[in-house]
Amino acid sequence: MAKTIHILNGPNLNLLGKRQPEIYGADTLADVETACAALGRDLGLGTELFQSNHEGEIVEMVHRARDTADGIIINPAAYTHTSVAILDALNTFEGPVIEVHISNVHKREAFRHHSYVSLRADGVIAGLGVEGYELALRRMATLLA
Ligand code: DQA
Repeated sequence: MAKTIHILNGPNLNLLGKRQPEIYGADTLADVETACAALGRDLGLGTELFQSNHEGEIVEMVHRARDTADGIIINPAAYTHTSVAILDALNTFEGPVIEVHISNVHKREAFRHHSYVSLRADGVIAGLGVEGYELALRRMATLLA
């Protein structure tokens, strides 16, 4: 059976395409979902994309992934820099985890330079735009082969 990757997205990413396009670009989260689904078909991976503006819901998404996903790609957005709860949830997940940031967080404000999620992530992609999600998916295919 095809392996399944959950692509989890945190707060304000529902506004991708409208929100600060000079930083995050013009593509929407629906565009990301479509591109990842197409690439996933080529790679033999199923993909499911989720987004929430609420920390506890993201924790619950990770809990669901424990039973239903082989790998997690996560852009925790602002919770990257604050959430021990999301880190703790990811530490209960046994498969590979890749952290994605659309912008180069290291070129931005100092508070964006620290990531709790990076303490668990097997890899981190930042600053490659929404293409980072597809690059993360390619890496997932390698890790799960
Ligand atoms: C982000 C970077 C975060 O610092 C920010 O809070 C976001 C998006 C990114 O994808 O570049 O909402 O994770």
